[in-house]
Amino acid sequence: MSNPFTLLAIETSCDDTSVALWQENALVEELRFHQAIHAAYGGVIPEWASREHEIRLPWLYHNLHKKYPDVQLHAVAATLGPGLIGSLLIGVTFAKTLALDLDIPFLGVHHLHAHIASLELPHADMTYPFLCLVATGGHTVLYEVHSPLHRIFLGGTRDDAVGEAFDKIAAQLGLPYPGGPEIEKLSQKGDPTCFSFPYPKKEAPWDYSFSGLKTAFLYARRDHPHLPIEDLAAAWHDHVIHYLLQGLFATAEYKNIPRIAVVGGVSANQKLRSLLHQTAQEKGFTYYLAPLPYCTDNAAMVAVEAYHHWLNAQYTPIDAEPFPTGEKL
Ligand code: KG4
Ligand code: ZN
Repeated sequence: MSNPFTLLAIETSCDDTSVALWQENALVEELRFHQAIHAAYGGVIPEWASREHEIRLPWLYHNLHKKYPDVQLHAVAATLGPGLIGSLLIGVTFAKTLALDLDIPFLGVHHLHAHIASLELPHADMTYPFLCLVATGGHTVLYEVHSPLHRIFLGGTRDDAVGEAFDKIAAQLGLPYPGGPEIEKLSQKGDPTCFSFPYPKKEAPWDYSFSGLKTAFLYARRDHPHLPIEDLAAAWHDHVIHYLLQGLFATAEYKNIPRIAVVGGVSANQKLRSLLHQTAQEKGFTYYLAPLPYCTDNAAMVAVEAYHHWLNAQYTPIDAEPFPTGEKL
């Protein structure tokens, strides 16, 4: 085809700067810079994240453009929210400027919807509906997904997100940010049966709460100083993974939906992936996961989501504002 549909996608909602090139109905290339400057501080420092995006994004775009000098863009997409407002503003301003200059549509994408769309990178032929758990550093929510752009928000955590709980526990133990992979690594050296953590009360199957579990870990550490930290971390880690999947399966059973998925940074967790596989097999569920590189924030998933917007002529007004919180779920 002489002039196939071509899309540039940008992701700058948190601490990953990423650009992706999408052509026809497939990903051509994704370039990413993970901001390591936050590692020693237990979480993302918003001001630094914005400054890093401001430095990295033009270079990532430049490198992509140099590699594909002849492409002609038909649309530019960027994450509109939720995320850190300063970080979002960098990506959105960049995308809008290109869109105006090239006289092509701007496509503003919802970050959590893009995480759900990441499932389509390996599974072009997904069966709908499915139930999707979005587990990130900022959100732990469940959606009923009926088609690429038709998702029903069911509910989620009443307090912290699961990724945030991992990050805070890691910070308490002096481990670098992001804490999820660190707690996972530590827990692989420990005995998870050394301690039992409680299950928070639920009013609906999709209810979650992580703040009490965070405190429970701190109390367990204080009250049982003889327990090796690897063992306690393993007990907490495995409990959190079981709790996450328990809510997902319980909601799927309640809703009578035989297909489930987990997306977002926490879905990179190996224990979660293997337990999901095992439980889905035992219970007769079909399950979907994104490939590891597309679990954490990336522009490839923004491209997938934006492609559906394009197919449905859902263009975003050029004066649409980035939004920091998840009020538009
Ligand atoms: O989706 P994501 O990259 O960014 C947000 O949208 O927040 O998710 C980042 C979160 C962090 O809290 C990080 O600790 C967690 O995902 N995470 C993990 C793992 N890899 C990343 N949590 C548990 N196990 C992992 N292997
Ligand atoms: Zn994310």
